[in-house]
Order: sequence, then structure tokens, then C-alpha cells
Amino acid sequence: MKHSIYFLLTFLILPFTAIFSQSGNTFIGAEACGMCHKTEKQGSQFSIWKNSVHSKAFETLLTDTANQIAIAKGFNEPASKTWECLKCHVTGYNLDVTMLGKKFKVEDGIQCETCHGAGSAYKEMKVMKDKKLAIEKGLVVHDKLEDFCVSCHNNESPTYTKFDVNESWDKIKHNVPKK
Ligand code: HEC
Ligand code: HEC
Ligand code: HEC
Ligand code: HEC
Repeated sequence: MKHSIYFLLTFLILPFTAIFSQSGNTFIGAEACGMCHKTEKQGSQFSIWKNSVHSKAFETLLTDTANQIAIAKGFNEPASKTWECLKCHVTGYNLDVTMLGKKFKVEDGIQCETCHGAGSAYKEMKVMKDKKLAIEKGLVVHDKLEDFCVSCHNNESPTYTKFDVNESWDKIKHNVPKK
């Protein structure tokens, strides 16, 4: 059962990540980013993300509440199989399965690479330390949070109420400490 869900997901595309991933780059998964982005000195990005709701966004789709929302919207499949839910709750699987690294996990919901772009080409230390080069190799940084976050935080979300970008950023920010 579990496997068929993942199999299905393999053939779905998340438009947001599709935009952000450059051709040829693969998604390596949050844990691979976390190898470097976990110490306090670096800014504990991994644990901040792991403790945030974004890492649980797929699990949310497995709940009764989610299934009820899907039914109310007229979908026939469970929420975790409904494309109209997955597109905002899960880092994308692309038609091309070669886009996915071996360690990539769909259960990880909204991951580092959902927001920062597929990481296979920029994950090397040498590249990461050179911001300009990292961006050339597919790293996505966001100058205007308000424009970016609302690609999912908008009234197309069935549970949307309001979105205050500053308040919300405060809850998930994961800055590198100033040296
Ligand atoms: C080999 C270690 C390593 C890996 C793996 C790694 N990073 Fe980095 N990353 C760094 C270092 C070092 C910096 C430089 C930041 C600093 O000054 O501490 C950095 C910087 C960044 C920045 C900040 C760019 C800027 O200056 O605004 C982002 C965003 C980022 N990494 C995301 C990721 C994501 C997403 C992944 C996984 C796909 C990842 N990193 C994997 C080491 C790594
Ligand atoms: C790819 C879609 C996507 C993007 C982009 C995104 N989010 Fe989310 N966000 C979600 C989903 C889905 C949830 C709900 C997760 C759950 O409850 O399981 C969520 C929940 C949250 C929550 C907790 C609920 C709340 O409203 O307080 C915060 C805070 C949040 N996001 C902040 C942000 C911020 C800030 C940005 C931009 C930097 C952002 N998100 C970008 C999909 C996204
Ligand atoms: C446009 C993006 C988007 C779509 C499409 C979307 N969601 Fe969400 N979902 C979010 C965001 C963002 C949040 C957190 C803030 C909010 O409620 O808007 C969220 C939160 C949730 C929550 C948690 C609500 C809570 O109060 O804790 C559930 C459950 C949920 N979504 C189910 C679904 C289901 C089921 C579908 C498909 C029918 C769906 N979502 C489609 C973006 C989306
Ligand atoms: C919901 C979207 C989202 C997720 C998920 C996310 N980030 Fe970020 N991240 C941002 C935004 C927005 C910024 C601030 C602007 C920028 O640099 O893009 C940022 C900034 C950063 C920075 C630079 C901080 C600084 O002080 O310059 C690093 C490093 C980083 N993220 C790493 C990660 C890693 C590693 C993960 C996963 C463990 C992750 N991010 C998950 C959206 C996200």
C-alpha cells in the first residue's frame, strides 16, 4: 500500500519545484543538506526545519481531517493521493525519476530543496561557499519573501485564513549566525 503511494507520487510534478530545478539537477533530500547545515555555528537549519510544520506537510495529508477536506472539495481519492493537495504539501516528484536522489524521501513534505532548488550541483562545500557560483548551479535564494511564500500560502489552500509574511517567517527562519 505504502509503496503504491510512492509509486504514484513518482509520476507527479510539483510546478513550484519544477520551476526551481534546473535541467539535470536532482533532489538530494533534506538529510543530505542537513549534513552541513546542522551545527549551532552554522545555524541549525536542519533541526529548525525538522521541528517546523513544513517537514510534516505530507503527514498532514494522511490524517482524517485532510481526507474530509478532500471529500468536501469533491475529490475521490485520499488527500495523500490527490494531486490538488500534493502540489503544495510535498516536494515534487518529476516525470523523470532520474531527478530524484536515492535518499530523497517524499514523507519529508516541504523540504530545503522545495524552497532552495534541487541541490545535486550546488551541494559541494567548494560551491556552497561561493554564493554566486552556487546560484549559477541552481541554488535559489529569495529577495522578496512575500512574493515567494504566497505561491502556497494563498486562498487556494482549503484551510487558508490569512498570511502575515513577517510573523510566519519568524516561525521558520533559519539564519546563519552573524560572525
Ligand atoms: C558540504 C556541506 C554543505 C552541504 C551538503 C550543503 N550546504 Fe548549503 N552551505 C554550506 C556552507 C559552508 C555555506 C556558506 C554559509 C556560511 O557562511 O555558513 C552554505 C550556504 C547555503 C545557503 C546560503 C546562501 C546565501 O549565502 O544566501 C543556502 C540557502 C544553502 N546553503 C542551502 C543548502 C541546501 C538546500 C542544501 C541541500 C540541497 C545544502 N545547502 C547543502 C555547506 C553545505
Ligand atoms: C511549497 C509550498 C509552500 C511554500 C513555498 C511555503 N509554505 Fe509554509 N506551509 C506550507 C504547507 C503545506 C503548510 C501546512 C503544513 C501542515 O500543516 O502540515 C505550511 C505551513 C506554514 C506555517 C505554519 C502555519 C501557519 O500559517 O502559521 C508557517 C509559519 C509557514 N508555513 C511559513 C512559511 C513561510 C514564511 C514561507 C516563505 C518563506 C512559506 N511558508 C512557504 C506550504 C508552503
Ligand atoms: C495552494 C497550496 C495548497 C493546496 C492546493 C492545499 N494546501 Fe493544505 N495547506 C496549505 C498551507 C499553506 C497550509 C497552512 C496554512 C493554511 O492553512 O493555509 C495548509 C494546511 C493544511 C492543513 C492543516 C490545517 C490546520 O489547521 O492545521 C490540512 C489538513 C490541509 N492543508 C489539507 C489539504 C488538503 C486535503 C488539500 C487538497 C484538497 C490541500 N490541503 C491543498 C497549502 C495548500
Ligand atoms: C519554506 C521554504 C524554506 C525551506 C523549507 C527551507 N528554507 Fe532555507 N531559506 C528560505 C528563505 C526564504 C531564506 C531567506 C532568503 C534566502 O536566503 O533565500 C532562507 C535562508 C536560508 C539560508 C541562509 C541564511 C542566512 O542567514 O543567510 C540557509 C543556509 C538555508 N536557508 C538553508 C536551508 C536548509 C539547509 C533547509 C532544510 C533543512 C532550508 N533552508 C529549508 C526558505 C526555506
